[in-house]
Amino acid sequence: MGDTEQELKERIKELTCLYEVSSIIGNANAELIEDTLKAVAFSLKKAFQYPEKTVVVFRIENISISTDNQVSNELKIQSHIKIFNKVKGELIAGLNSSDSKEINFLKEEQSLLDNVALKVGSLLERIEIQKNETSLKRQMERADRLGILGEITAGIAHELNTPLANILGFAELLKNDLDINSKLSEDIDKIIKNAIFSREVVKKLMFFSCEMPQEMKRINLIPHIKNAINLLAATFKKEQVKYVVKIEEEELWLRADPIQLTQIIFNLLMNAIYFSPTEGLVTIEVLGSEKEIILKISDEGKGFALNELEKVFQPFFTTKPTGEGSGLGLSVVHGIVASHKGTITAQNNKKKGAIFTIILPKE
Ligand SMILES: Nc1ncnc2c1ncn2[C@@H]1O[C@H](COP(=O)(O)OP(=O)(O)OP(=O)(O)O)[C@@H](O)[C@H]1O
Ligand SMILES: [Mg+2]
Repeated sequence: MGDTEQELKERIKELTCLYEVSSIIGNANAELIEDTLKAVAFSLKKAFQYPEKTVVVFRIENISISTDNQVSNELKIQSHIKIFNKVKGELIAGLNSSDSKEINFLKEEQSLLDNVALKVGSLLERIEIQKNETSLKRQMERADRLGILGEITAGIAHELNTPLANILGFAELLKNDLDINSKLSEDIDKIIKNAIFSREVVKKLMFFSCEMPQEMKRINLIPHIKNAINLLAATFKKEQVKYVVKIEEEELWLRADPIQLTQIIFNLLMNAIYFSPTEGLVTIEVLGSEKEIILKISDEGKGFALNELEKVFQPFFTTKPTGEGSGLGLSVVHGIVASHKGTITAQNNKKKGAIFTIILPKE
């Protein structure tokens, strides 16, 4: 074979390779990038002068792909693979020349390698861009959904408020007209009880969708806490749960919404009472430091199972039977604490039961 003819054959092999590589890359699947690289490597191997003596290797970050098991180190050419102008790996061709000193890589083979490395680089760039776009799109869809959820919630809560007030009002009117001991009166009581329950759910939902205005003032926390506890004294008694209040300070001042603070204590104590055994003790402790106020409420109930701990603050998470809890109490508490720039944690007590710790900044 004459030199010219030989060269021509090499050029044709290179062009065929480039054409093949282009179509492999054109059909590449981002999920199966290693398969694509493998196909490119084998296509490239065929284009060299001595295919059976040439090994083609991709080393890109944590991916390593080779056309043959043995990599010859004797003769080597290589090209950088760049992604967004940064070297992220190499495309290497090794030649086993041990049986003949004359063979070597051609100049054209280096440019073919460079060419393919360039194409692979831009494929990897394309995949990276695609990945970023998908994750951005997902984030936006999620934000959209949450936004819509907020609006729907606000709408529903608002729409239900008036009819619920009517149900309650008329049920109470009816009750007044009935003999207290009649069966009908008992039924009306159930209607009233359920209407009140629904009204509470609506209230909590309104808090979520920011329908409840917040009124921040500088207040002394202590009387507000004592007041909230007193409101529940009758419930403690009825449920046969004991409580102890440990407050050493007379005054602890902070900026807060007093109604929301009462709501925090109310929700936590209602839970503590619900989960307490008969004669169980609920401890309410308030401590002040220079910059923070710490509020701890603990009980001697069942505490939390491991998988519950991460969910207790999520809206609608409840382990109470249907009709007894909406699973909104703690998420409202969490929301209020966060809006006061504080933190709340739920833990199992050393001995038994649950302990909630709230830390609120003084300013
Ligand atoms: N003191 C506690 N001891 C054990 N588990 C608790 C305690 N407080 C809350 N939990 C768990 O967290 C869940 C969620 O509490 P959350 O106050 O948000 O809703 P709920 O009490 O079930 O219903 P709601 O407060 O709306 O009436 C409870 O159902 C319960 O599983
Ligand atoms: Mg609750």
